[in-house]
Formats: sequence, structure tokens, C-alpha cells
Amino acid sequence: MKATVDKDRCIGCGICVEVCPEVFEMGDDDKAKVKAPPVPPEAEGSCRDAADQCPDSAIKIEED
Ligand code: F3S
Repeated sequence: MKATVDKDRCIGCGICVEVCPEVFEMGDDDKAKVKAPPVPPEAEGSCRDAADQCPDSAIKIEED
């Protein structure tokens, strides 16, 4: 499973970092970035939650 953040959509709310810190972190531009492109198996659930909760649908998930 792979996650990406569309920086044009991200408004920097930080929910994804709170919900799934294993995968997301805030960048210097105050937008989220993915620090673990192949999502660790134990973080897949929280990564999906982060994508669901992102207010701007900026997170895309690619299932293997
Ligand atoms: Fe950005 Fe969505 Fe995360 S707006 S900071 S990708 S929850």
C-alpha cells in the first residue's frame, strides 16, 4: 500500500499527522508529506483513517 499527498489540495490542517504519524509529517512548507511511501502493514488502518478524515481529500491511497 502506498500513500501520496496532493500538495495543491492540502491546506495543512495536520489531521493526517495526528491520525497516522507513522506515515505523514508536516513539511517546511506547512503541508503534509509522506515519510513512508510503502505504508508499513501495521499503519495501514490509520493511514486509511487519515485519508478519510482529510478535509480536502488530499490523500490518495494506492492498494497493492
Ligand atoms: Fe493536508 Fe489533509 Fe493532512 S489537508 S495536512 S493532507 S489531513
